[in-house]
Amino acid sequence: MRNAGNSNFEVVQTGAAVGAEVFGLDLRQPVSNDVRDLLLECWFQNMVLLFRDQDLSDEDILSVADVFGGQQVAGSRAFFLKAGFHAGATHRVAKHAGISLVSNLGEDGKPARETAGVGSLEALWHTDNSYVDIPPGGTLLWSEIVPTNGGGETSFNNQYQAYEELPSDLKKAIQGKHIRHDNLRNTAGKLRPTAKEPETREEITGPAHPIVRIHPKTGKQCLYLGRRYKGNSSYIEELPNEEGDRLLDRLWEHTTQDHLKWTHCWRKHDLILWDNRCTMHQRDPIDHTQARVMHRALVKGEPIISAWKN
Ligand code: OGA
Ligand code: MN
Repeated sequence: MRNAGNSNFEVVQTGAAVGAEVFGLDLRQPVSNDVRDLLLECWFQNMVLLFRDQDLSDEDILSVADVFGGQQVAGSRAFFLKAGFHAGATHRVAKHAGISLVSNLGEDGKPARETAGVGSLEALWHTDNSYVDIPPGGTLLWSEIVPTNGGGETSFNNQYQAYEELPSDLKKAIQGKHIRHDNLRNTAGKLRPTAKEPETREEITGPAHPIVRIHPKTGKQCLYLGRRYKGNSSYIEELPNEEGDRLLDRLWEHTTQDHLKWTHCWRKHDLILWDNRCTMHQRDPIDHTQARVMHRALVKGEPIISAWKN
């Protein structure tokens, strides 16, 4: 049913640790300030919002990003442009700077297992663009083409609850600590176009962020882990590699437990908005014979508020 005024909507929680579906809005239409304020409240409470049956253009997706806090250009865009991909000319780089194409199509337009992006591979647990100084506050992901029973389900977790439930020895062990967030690899763990394999920890570039952050809107503390890959990759600043890796292993194991997560099975024209400050996400591999094409916009972030005093 079309709701021209976008004045009423209904929210149904998933029943899992994170997520809710919003019914009754047509996101091609403008939303009033009152509805926007309610949606923001609902987003901060549920962390992940699903809007189904949204037939959106890239311009519409960017307008939705504006409703939730403004647009931010993805960190990966510069890597692709530097590697010679032209904006708007391929399946890789979108015309609008605020849109990323997340697809498993190769340069020939056909689905492939590996592409210059994440392709059909699993996107390992991560938060978006944790490898920049000011990571996005949220992400919008809209499905244009989804495989039929072909994988590509996306899971989200609740990093507030993960922090609350952290065993006390782990809570103590991470006090005052920061992670250096590797910007050389994509979410499948593959080196980005033009990036060189780091041989030492000093060669890993990217910012350091506190392991626990304070959400600017809710004031609550949550774990902030970002991304983690095999080999020389993200590490804990204040610890030697092996000790840091052991601690990270335990944190990752804790935070990806089933009871902390919710999994979404995509239909065409779903729009999902996630809070990138207090959730992580992971995407299952895709059947590489089937196309999956998503459009993504990042919602502007703000400087990270550390839970540590110093
Ligand atoms: C992303 C991402 C998951 C997916 O675009 O940041 O992690 O389901 N995508 O494609
Ligand atoms: Mn992501």
